[in-house]
Parts: sequence; C-alpha cells; structure tokens
Amino acid sequence: MRAKDIRAKAGEEPVTMLTAYDAPTAELVDAAGVDMILVGDSVGNLRLGHESTLPVTVDDIASRTAAVTRATEDAFVLADMPFLSFGVDEADSIEHCGRMVKEAGADGVKLECGKHTVDLTDRLTDLGVPVQAHLGLTPQRENETGLFRQATDDEAAGRMLELAEAHEAAGAFSLVLEHVPANAAAAVTETLSIPTIGIGAGPDCDGQVLTVDEVIGLTEGVAPFSRAFGDVRGEMERAIESYVDGVESGDFPAEEHSHVAEGLDTDDLY
Ligand code: KIV
Ligand code: NA
Repeated sequence: MRAKDIRAKAGEEPVTMLTAYDAPTAELVDAAGVDMILVGDSVGNLRLGHESTLPVTVDDIASRTAAVTRATEDAFVLADMPFLSFGVDEADSIEHCGRMVKEAGADGVKLECGKHTVDLTDRLTDLGVPVQAHLGLTPQRENETGLFRQATDDEAAGRMLELAEAHEAAGAFSLVLEHVPANAAAAVTETLSIPTIGIGAGPDCDGQVLTVDEVIGLTEGVAPFSRAFGDVRGEMERAIESYVDGVESGDFPAEEHSHVAEGLDTDDLY
C-alpha cells in the first residue's frame, strides 16, 4: 500500500485505519486488511501508563514503529510524531521524521497540525516522506484546548477548513479529523480531494480510525465516540485468574508440562 493508493480511495471506497503498538497486534490488524496502521502517541496513555500523550518520546514511537513494521506486510504504516518532536526547528523535525522511515521502517508520518506544520508538510513531502495531517481535537494541545469537541462554531470550523486546504496544498496525502461535528467534517470532506479519516467526526468522512485498544475491548471503557467490538480485557482477566488458580491449586504444571530425564542420577544432586 502506498500513499497514492490511499489517496485514490477518496470518495471511492472507505479507508480503514487502526492503531497498533506491537508486533502481534500489527500482524492481526494487517491480516484483517486494514489500509493504514497508526503507531499512535496514544501509546502513552494506553500502554505506557502516562496520563496524556505529552510525555511520549521519539524513541518510544521509533521502537514501537519498528515492531509494527516488522509484522506488517500490506498496510501503510504511519508513525505519529510526538509532542515537540516537530515544528520547533525544521532540521530537527526532519531528522525525527526521517528516523521513523529510515530506522523504523515507517511509510509516512502523522503530524498534529496547525499553522506551524504547513511549511513542514511541504518540505517533508518534497523529500519523499508522506505526511498525514491531523486537525480538530489535537490532544498534544490539551493543556491549551482541553479534550473537547472542536470546530463547533462557524469561525472555528472555518479555520479548520482553511488549515485543511493549506495542508492538502502542501502535499498531505490524507487528513485525520478528530472529535469535530459531523457536519463540519462532511464539509471538509466535500471540499478536499484527499481522503478524510474521522474519529468522532461522523459517518461522512472518507474513512474511519480508532485505537485498537478500544476496538478489541482492552481499555476499561471507551471514548464517547468510540466502540468496543470485543472483550479482550475480560478474556485476559479470565486467563490470568485461571493461571493463578492453577498454580495455587496444583493443577499447573501437570504431567504433560514437565519432563523427566531418565538417565539422571538425582542422588548426585543432593
Ligand atoms: O494517537 C492516536 O491514536 C491518534 C488517533 C486516535 C488518530 O492520533
Ligand atoms: Na495521536
């Protein structure tokens, strides 16, 4: 899957995207035929025990991205660039994004966008690094905006549309719209020719993205716009409790989990 294949799906076929943060999950997501795998900075709160995405480092995303790309055959893998790893200084931004491609094997990067990412998107795409833009709720700004629905009035929705068009013009191959009104997302989708990928942005985007932890039911509860399609948390609880019971009751290990070396003279060991 290439950026141009994703781009060509706009208005034609729904685009599917899910996060993954490790090799076994990526293998399953890829095998399900998902178009894009995002190594999201949501790894910070979902897997690393942080309260937000802000502490996530370039190393965190690079090592997770490398694990995901090793297990992925078909999907387009995006590294989600962490807070302040881009947009501060152009050379540093390009080095950090370049690491994801050169070292970790990513096919492209996702940037939480604002005015500061238009030129960077242009530069990265010139250099051959596909960029996915991300507008609406951008959780790296949570200290400024809170984690609330964005673009809820004409002025804010207008600013979002302008930034979306600027990033498309700068070369972004797709755009994530997070937690914005469905009608605002529909207007952006209508205006742009690159695919919009919604999360909490209604049914009219060209595609949808969710975190895999919510989809499989690993998290306790899900965001209001998300949905658990499975109960992996319950399954893990059952398996772990049965293991503890098995050891405590003496049921595990059973004979078939052990082996005896016939020629061993155990008298010598005492
Ligand atoms: O980090 C993440 O998981 C994301 C998606 C939810 C878009 O940015
Ligand atoms: Na993210």
